[in-house]
Parts: sequence; C-alpha cells; structure tokens
Amino acid sequence: MSRRLCLIPGDGIGLEVVPAAVEVLEKLLPAVQVLEADAGWECFRRQGSAVPEATLELLTECGAGLFGAVSSPSGVVPGYRSAILTLRQRLGLSLNLRPVRSWPQVSPRADVDLLILRENSEGLYSGREHWEAEGVAIAERVISRAACQRLAEQAAQLAGERSARRITLVHKANVLPLTCGLFRDTCSQVLTAAGWGEQLDERLVDIAALQLVQQPEAFDLIVTTNLFGDILSDLACHWGGGMGLAPSLNLGAGIALAEPVHGSAPDIAGSGRANPLAAILSLGLLLRYHWQLPELAARLEAAVYSFLAEEGQVDFATQTTRRVTQGILQRL
Ligand code: NAI
Ligand code: MG
Repeated sequence: MSRRLCLIPGDGIGLEVVPAAVEVLEKLLPAVQVLEADAGWECFRRQGSAVPEATLELLTECGAGLFGAVSSPSGVVPGYRSAILTLRQRLGLSLNLRPVRSWPQVSPRADVDLLILRENSEGLYSGREHWEAEGVAIAERVISRAACQRLAEQAAQLAGERSARRITLVHKANVLPLTCGLFRDTCSQVLTAAGWGEQLDERLVDIAALQLVQQPEAFDLIVTTNLFGDILSDLACHWGGGMGLAPSLNLGAGIALAEPVHGSAPDIAGSGRANPLAAILSLGLLLRYHWQLPELAARLEAAVYSFLAEEGQVDFATQTTRRVTQGILQRL
C-alpha cells in the first residue's frame, strides 16, 4: 500500500531536520510518496497566512505529515497565530503522544520509559484571549467532556499496548475544580470502565513536576491537559537526552502529524548543529501508531539505539545533522 507524507519544514532548524528525517524514511519505506507544504512565520511574511488553505488541504489529502518547527513572535502580530496550534485545531489533531525513554550514552539515567499523552486542542491553548479592560488580559481555559473522553479512550488503548503498570492523571483540581475536576472525573470513569482502575493514579501538576525530576522511573503513562503536557514533556525529555531527541505525534481521526517537540532553535539554525533524531523518532511514532508498521518503527529505533551506543558521546561540532543522519542510514 502506498503511503503519502506531507512535509511542512517550517522555519529555522525545521528546514534542516525535516530533509534529514525524510532521507531516513525513504530508506526504510522506499515506496513512500513525499509532498511539501508551507507554514510558519516566514510563510506568514510571504503569504499573509501562517497556515495557507493549500497546506491544510494537502495534509488532509495525505492523511499523514511531518512538521519541522516554526518561529513565533512573542508579542501580538495582527493576523498571526502559531502554525502548529492552527494545524492541531483545524485538523482535529486532538491528541499528542510524547514518549520519553532512556537512550545509551546520552541519557542521565538508564531506567526511564514513560509516555505523556497530552490533550492537544483546548485547555489554556484554546486561543480565546482578550482584553477585559485596560491592563487586564483574560485567557479562557476550555475543558470539554468530549475531549476528555477521547483522551481517556486513547489512554486505555495505549495502556493496553504497553501493558501499563501505572496510569497517572495529572491535573490541578484543587484550585481549578470545574475544569480540572471535569478532566479528572471523566478520564477516571472511562479508564475504570475500560478495566484500568487498579493501575489508575493521580497527581497535582506541581508535585508531578518534582516527582518527574526525583523518580522518573516511577511513571509509565501520564495523561494530562494541554498546557501541563507541554511543560511536563519538556521537563521529562531531559531523561531522554534532551530536546534534540524528543519526538511527538499529533493524532486525529484518520490523520496524524509527526512533530519534534523542539522549536525552530534560532540560536543554532543554519549552523549544521541541529540534531535530527527528534524528527527521525517522530517518524518512528508515525510508523508505529498511525501507519501501523510496528516492525519498521522497531527497526528505526534499533538503528537509533545502536548509533547512540556507539557514537552517542562523539561531539560532531558543526556537522551534527549530517553525521547523525549518515550514522542512522548506515545502520538501517
Ligand atoms: P527551541 O526548542 O527552539 O530551542 C531551545 C534550546 O534547545 C535551544 O538552545 C536550541 O538550540 C536547543 N535545541 C532545540 N532543538 C534542538 C535540536 N534538534 N538539536 C540541538 N539543539 C536543539 O525553543 P525556544 O528557543 O524556546 O524557541 C525558539 C522558537 O521556536 C520560538 O519562536 C518559539 O515560538 C518556537 N517554538 C516552536 C515550536 C514548534 O514549532 N512546535 C515549539 C517550541 C518553540
Ligand atoms: Mg512545547
């Protein structure tokens, strides 16, 4: 069966890691058909839109994509909204999978293997921000039962696939009893009904952050809301060797978008130092969870493992992107 992949390199190091990851995918899956689309800050400056309709159409048609990274200004720019948030909302990519595991040589410890499942379409990133009065800005945090149900159903499936020993719901229901309460209660009901009551656990987000630092090995599947998942996944990726190795997959109904956790890294863009493994491993997630090609995903991960075991400590200086890509290609 022929697979189509829509590439959205974006800005900064997205333009460097996406071609590297595609080279690896083409070696694994020579029949893959690759098409390219535009999005991001430079796209906004050229076309007046950070996500042109043509990009949404191509991605929908392909049913699968790889997103590099985009730059976003930190102030208000009329008409601009982060491209990745727009893609997630417009395409119904309402779940985000962010695995973190120990890798040889590059991980500070050897016993971490956890998966953060993050709600991806609402929460504090609902996009509803306004001025209430001069000097008072409001952001609305949206939590819906339907989105929590979808999240918990996906959590139950993932828990089965990884034989989860523990499922931790992360929230802040003590100070946000309506929104976080709805999240906790809905997820808890769905997971208990699916037979995961014994493994179910919950943590307030602040203490969860401390425990992810103190005993990351105690976590297995973490289920949480949009903002909490964003922050905790950056924290947790320290255990997997840092930002350059942190993959993610945005999932919707019949559509998925692979996305390294990192941003456009303007501090190293153009220097050849971007690590392509986050993007490469994101394609591994696409192979495993969307295209249902677990053998290819396992081959890819084995190549990454062997590369890091043998060359993980080498300082590639200015040639990281090229040297890492070659190292993976050689091992496939
Ligand atoms: P960042 O992830 O771009 O960079 C953080 C640090 O990690 C930098 O020192 C960078 O050099 C390093 N780093 C990131 N990816 C790396 C890689 N593959 N290899 C080696 N080092 C890597 O986050 P930052 O600096 O907070 O944001 C920069 C821009 O990216 C901003 O405009 C921000 O809005 C955007 N951003 C976009 C995201 C996306 O498109 N999904 C996600 C996060 C930030
Ligand atoms: Mg983030």
